[in-house]
Amino acid sequence: MLRLCADNAASILREFYAARGLMVIKGLQDIRDHPRALVELSQLFGPEVENYHQTLTSQRFFHDSVPEILILTNDPPCNHHPPPRAKSAGGNRTGPRVQFPHQLNWHTDQSYRRPPPDITLLLALEIPPADQGQTLFADCGAALKALSEAQQRRLEALQGIHAPGWIGRSRKAVENGDPVLDLLPHQLPQRQPLVRRHPVTGESSLFICEESQMDYVDGPVAGLEPGPHGEGADLIRSLLSHATQQKFVYAHEWEVGDLLVGDNRNLLHCATWYDSLRYSRLMWRTTVMGNPGREYAGELKSWIPRDGSDVMAGMEHA
Ligand SMILES: [Fe+2]
Repeated sequence: MLRLCADNAASILREFYAARGLMVIKGLQDIRDHPRALVELSQLFGPEVENYHQTLTSQRFFHDSVPEILILTNDPPCNHHPPPRAKSAGGNRTGPRVQFPHQLNWHTDQSYRRPPPDITLLLALEIPPADQGQTLFADCGAALKALSEAQQRRLEALQGIHAPGWIGRSRKAVENGDPVLDLLPHQLPQRQPLVRRHPVTGESSLFICEESQMDYVDGPVAGLEPGPHGEGADLIRSLLSHATQQKFVYAHEWEVGDLLVGDNRNLLHCATWYDSLRYSRLMWRTTVMGNPGREYAGELKSWIPRDGSDVMAGMEHA
């Protein structure tokens, strides 16, 4: 079991931020028999490890005994399946293309809440063969810096509108004419800055999400023409494509026992396809919050009902 003391905890954090918010710790498969240890380890990365029973999360993702652990697996009852297979890279490149829209599913975790979670920890317990089911990370600080000054200034004045994928507001749902779910106040889509300043490193980053996690009824960008073919949609597509170029992306090939720690404040991530009819993939996830940055100073949690209603009331089918 990993033992942390104050000294090595501080140096782990220093290394984490020096590595632009991405770290892997190997050999932690024994946590499967000690799930609270994952929560204790997560506490190193922020003041609050989230209780998923109190967030906008369907109970099919809940761990049996530890409410801070989210289960991600294709097996029932979770039935969480991977995105479609990306086309292969062309030319002399090998492996799948990582760039949107060849690769779908790029997102930051639960960005439809304000403040959004800071850091995600993913522990691999069952994995498919080595060339499947990778997790990709895109450096949105480097991606922002690569834009022109004028583009950066424009983006700094804009806000994206983020929404859960299951409420009829995703690009695909709007294009299909799916019904839009009536929501309670604490479930409503949330505006997030398109550019965030990291509270620890001070670096600015793009903050965007996949088309299934933004609002294509009223957005995806506040103040720009809404809808799946509007000016806002064009902007998000071009930013997703820009930020997920190979040069900004790290692809993690999993081994059982890997704990991958990723900072949602400056990274996009996505799972890739695997053959979920043949293989099981099981990840345990925690998210840590409490230091979202100055854009969220003093805010209450948007997803906590003020009227005593259930967090997921009316959304149970999700
Ligand atoms: Fe995720």
